Amino acid sequence: MVREPVIKGEDDPEDDFSGSEDTWHTGYMADDAEYDDALRPQRLSEVVGQRQVVERLEVFLDATRKRNEPLGHLLLDGPPGLGKTTLASVLPKELGTELQITSGPSLSAPKDLLPFLTNASHGSFLFIDEIHRMPATVEEFIYPAMEDFRVDITLGEGLNARTVNMKLQKFTVIGATTRSGMLTAPLRDRFVRREHLDFYEDDELIEIVRRNSKKLRTEISDDSAFEIARRSRGTPRKANNLLRWARDFATSKADGRITTEVVNRAFEMLEIDQLGLERQDRRYLETLIKTFSGGPAGVQALGHSLNIPADTLEDEVEPFLLRCGFIQRSPRGRVVTMSALEHLKMSLPDSGKLFS
Ligand SMILES: Nc1ncnc2c1ncn2[C@@H]1O[C@H](COP(=O)(O)OP(=O)(O)O)[C@@H](O)[C@H]1O
Ligand SMILES: [Mg+2]
Repeated sequence: MVREPVIKGEDDPEDDFSGSEDTWHTGYMADDAEYDDALRPQRLSEVVGQRQVVERLEVFLDATRKRNEPLGHLLLDGPPGLGKTTLASVLPKELGTELQITSGPSLSAPKDLLPFLTNASHGSFLFIDEIHRMPATVEEFIYPAMEDFRVDITLGEGLNARTVNMKLQKFTVIGATTRSGMLTAPLRDRFVRREHLDFYEDDELIEIVRRNSKKLRTEISDDSAFEIARRSRGTPRKANNLLRWARDFATSKADGRITTEVVNRAFEMLEIDQLGLERQDRRYLETLIKTFSGGPAGVQALGHSLNIPADTLEDEVEPFLLRCGFIQRSPRGRVVTMSALEHLKMSLPDSGKLFS
């Protein structure tokens, strides 16, 4: 993802470590990762969609098996809920090796990373989620580990300090990020393979909904699977969450089967429209229209008005609105489009200004 200079300049890197995202997750949508594991594909063959990525990974795996050497380091990037953690957990299963899991924000100093490195067995995987939030000191510490499978540890202090070199087993780092643009070039360059995950098509989401309703032992009509898919914003995690909601609704208000009538009533109650726009998307657009006269507005300013961290807006709200063609990113900030105004049946307060 290429980030515009104007946005980068607005970002306060310190903000990234405040943990404000967590507040948003627990306080807002029920989109937490807590249910992910139950419905997560276990093998590469169960992964729906992302055909090109999966095919390339199959080649990568096959070559690794034939040469009997560890897989090269792999970077996965893309918006939340598209399958980064899924792919990272499937690959070690395909090769029958171990997986250790950590994340950028939880590695505050090299000493936090050290146990993972020394525990890594030959050919095993180390998954670092949100790798763009790894502090610079940890990043520098991981370079020799990724490149030469060694770490340099400083013992003692001041005049007595000496550096000890420690050899590691050959292992594989899988990094995941929603912000590949925030990775430093040296870190990015240490990944042999980089894969970008894109939003899913409706028919792929329908397939995911069908498979998962089987896993959840719930009957679902074809139309309902489509209704869920098209409200899922191209995102499997959303599809799973909406499926769970429809299932709860069907159990509580009907006979447990997910029918078209059930999904329509269920989504009305959730305030999700047919395009998948949720309350926070509408709030975003309404703020952009009413408070900022349709824009241009900086993402920080929008974030302050909405009381939502700017990076959450950039990761979770804007990609979908951009994809719908409801906002545009200009060098001076976000601008609402005509199609958004039409969809919301709204007009700009300053009617002289129109954007297409
Ligand atoms: N390609 C896929 N096929 C089937 N299910 C998927 C796929 N990608 C994601 N999912 C579902 O969506 C959930 C969230 O995916 P996850 O890998 O955790 O996303 P990310 O790590 O990119 O945020 C998973 O638990 C899984 O059930
Ligand atoms: Mg994940």
